[in-house]
Amino acid sequence: MITAIPSLLLLAGLSQCLPTSCQSQQCLSTAASILGSIDTRTDPCQDFYQFSCGAWSKIHEIPDNQLEIGAFEALSRGNSESLRKMLENGYNDLKLQNASNGVPGNQVHTDEKIFNKAKNYYESCHNEPLIESRGSTPLHPLLETLGNIFEENREDVRAAVTKGIAYLIQFGTTPLFTFAAHSEMSHPETYGVYVLQSGLTLATKERYNDSSVLEAYEKAASETWHKISGNVQLPGVNSENDMYHAVERAVDFEKQLSLISNSSQELSNPVTIYNPVTVTKLNEMAPMIDWDLLISLLRQNEHPIDSLVVTSPSYIQQMSTLIAETDIMTIQYHFMNTLILSVVGALSSDLSTPLKNMTLHVSGGKVLPSRQELCIQNTNMVLGQIVGRFYVLTKFSQAAKDSMDIMVNSLRKSLEQSIMQLEFFDDVTRTVALDKLHKIVQKIGYGTSSPDVMSPASLDAYYQSVTAMPELFFENYISYRQWSARKTWKLHGQKVDKQVWQLHPYQVNAYYNPLANEIVFPAGILQPPFYNVLNSENLNFGGIGAVIGHELTHGFDTSGRLFDGDGKIRSWWTKETERKYLERAQCFIDQYSNFTINGPGNTSLHLKGDFESGEILADNGGLQISYNAWQNSLKDSKRTGIKYQNLETIGGYTAEQLFFIGFGQVWCSKVRPEYTAMRMINDPHPPPQWRVNGAIQNSIEFAKAFNCPTGTSMNPEKKCRVW
Ligand SMILES: *[C@@H]1O[C@H](CO)[C@@H](O)[C@H](O)[C@H]1NC(C)=O
Ligand SMILES: *[C@@H]1O[C@H](CO)[C@@H](O)[C@H](O)[C@H]1NC(C)=O
Ligand SMILES: *[C@@H]1O[C@H](CO)[C@@H](O)[C@H](O)[C@H]1NC(C)=O
Ligand SMILES: *[C@@H]1O[C@H](CO)[C@@H](O)[C@H](O)[C@H]1NC(C)=O
Ligand SMILES: *[C@@H]1O[C@H](CO)[C@@H](O)[C@H](O)[C@H]1NC(C)=O
Ligand SMILES: *[C@@H]1O[C@H](CO)[C@@H](O)[C@H](O)[C@H]1NC(C)=O
Ligand SMILES: [Zn+2]
Repeated sequence: MITAIPSLLLLAGLSQCLPTSCQSQQCLSTAASILGSIDTRTDPCQDFYQFSCGAWSKIHEIPDNQLEIGAFEALSRGNSESLRKMLENGYNDLKLQNASNGVPGNQVHTDEKIFNKAKNYYESCHNEPLIESRGSTPLHPLLETLGNIFEENREDVRAAVTKGIAYLIQFGTTPLFTFAAHSEMSHPETYGVYVLQSGLTLATKERYNDSSVLEAYEKAASETWHKISGNVQLPGVNSENDMYHAVERAVDFEKQLSLISNSSQELSNPVTIYNPVTVTKLNEMAPMIDWDLLISLLRQNEHPIDSLVVTSPSYIQQMSTLIAETDIMTIQYHFMNTLILSVVGALSSDLSTPLKNMTLHVSGGKVLPSRQELCIQNTNMVLGQIVGRFYVLTKFSQAAKDSMDIMVNSLRKSLEQSIMQLEFFDDVTRTVALDKLHKIVQKIGYGTSSPDVMSPASLDAYYQSVTAMPELFFENYISYRQWSARKTWKLHGQKVDKQVWQLHPYQVNAYYNPLANEIVFPAGILQPPFYNVLNSENLNFGGIGAVIGHELTHGFDTSGRLFDGDGKIRSWWTKETERKYLERAQCFIDQYSNFTINGPGNTSLHLKGDFESGEILADNGGLQISYNAWQNSLKDSKRTGIKYQNLETIGGYTAEQLFFIGFGQVWCSKVRPEYTAMRMINDPHPPPQWRVNGAIQNSIEFAKAFNCPTGTSMNPEKKCRVW
């Protein structure tokens, strides 16, 4: 968010420019932060992002313990901070019982119980002296069990690997591949189990191609192993020399895995990743895994398993070949290394620091986050729906939810008009597109089933098997990972629960899920600068309106369009309309591929228009249909006589200009170049400045609002457009 103090100082000299209608405290502070962020010396027609955010950039530096700074990040940080304070206080400090959003008397006991579960979990994480004194002890039994599995199956690599995976995967450690439950793409009313490539501690295959990163990684892993081997005899490691050799072999094996792994870009096409494969076929594809045994060790229900969805068949095949060609000790070291590094974050600092520090440096970071930050993040992840309940009770109002519903409806209406008017759509495609739009489910605020965030009993049952013992942080964390891993196999074959949320209520984010054809906005994002119940319409449409439009148009982006209104992967476009659509999409891909961004060491990185095409289309569609929705609202207001508030003429800017300035300022941010470079590999979102300047360049309404001559940077002659 935009800091109030420097902005208010700036406002002083500008107060004569404010309309008399903007006198409330809220309007004044909104106006102050808008004007305080603008760089008036930049021509909006040359670089609109710099114009909107230039002054903001001058007064904001990335703190040493962060990789970026900006509106999203600041809201998340603010939410975490209030959650941390809440958990550091007690249940009674919440003062909920008699408040308007009070808890019915018969539920207070359970409510306090779940609050204390989150509090205890947080405190177990924050109990540093105890965590330090336990050292690597909590990990020893896990290493021992894994060691025994390999020892007992020394003569049978297939059995050792299969049983080793089954053991590790039960608490979410995935040395070769992992399983996830999602709607089955061709019959989305049922959950299917997906087999996904895994095993890369450094997360993306590209990092293994950088020898300095690989060297730092091996060093960090060695340091961690070294500390553990000081406390316990590691299986298969008889000397210091053995140990370094073991780590070297493990890291080298991981590098081999990286070479056969698919990139995020390759895995972004739903059609090519959808490969349902029978278990018999899986045994042929990857004979070094005993898939029948593996499934029998993991399954949690009696639903027959006809097939699993393999997202990367070439990886699964080559992984099996790699295992066949590798000696069993190397595989064992790789399993040990993955186990150690996947849970080391929950152990003492001498063990957790090397990997964290290494990852931090690769991302361009300077200082590790504080223990407090780490613990609130971890608690949020582990018990997010409980924490989210108290976020909602203390920070979110029914009024916000209701007016957000109205806003979403106006965006739907706007997209509907676009679809009806699109010249390049034929009537067959148009009819199915409208059907799909009408079927989009909207979820706002928090989930009310599976679990019901408003029901203490529901949350209590949901997190039953996650433990929160004050003195056992490591065990608590593992219990969460077990709970999470079991869920996958419990869901297999079940009817899809349409009430499930993939985000927690306090999260500052939103999503479109093509498999459920739903758009979801957690309570966390429904605050300024995105959204404000009292704010002006032009700012709300420029902020959250464009976000809603972004999520809605995802349903029709390059991958969303491959699913129908029921979430089924199915081609519903006529050939001719599809061809015209792809031509338009290609216009964006070419346009954005030409944009560059500063990378580490003064390098210039090109955006990958292809990989980012879904997000690019959503950004452009979102801005366009939100603008149209705002115009509709202005017309309605003329017709009905209902006057909506529109912040006009502050600082001499028109209501139209402020719509675009509001849009631009949502993205004011700074990102460390190393982090930018890393994100461009696996994050399909364009960097913030291009989320603004890209969409702006294609907006005729923007050019009109700012009187930009044709041919200026922000008003090129050639524009790309779908909606
Ligand atoms: C708050 O609720 C409790 C229990 O339901 C009740 O005993 C108490 O009188 C209430 N206090 C106020 C101020 O309403
Ligand atoms: C690895 O890096 C080299 C240069 O550093 C590059 O030419 C090559 O394409 C990269 N390979 C992969 C698979 O990324
Ligand atoms: C994954 O990479 C392999 C090459 O190793 C390639 O043949 C295959 O098409 C890729 N998979 C996808 C889904 O793109
Ligand atoms: C952190 O990593 C950097 C760079 O790899 C290294 O120079 C430094 O010694 C490390 N610090 C710790 C505490 O491990
Ligand atoms: C890419 O940029 C160059 C130079 O700025 C320009 O001449 C060219 O037309 C651009 N290409 C596209 C597809 O926008
Ligand atoms: C970065 O590159 C620009 C030109 O592309 C040059 O003027 C500048 O001096 C360079 N800065 C550094 C730190 O190398
Ligand atoms: Zn998106």
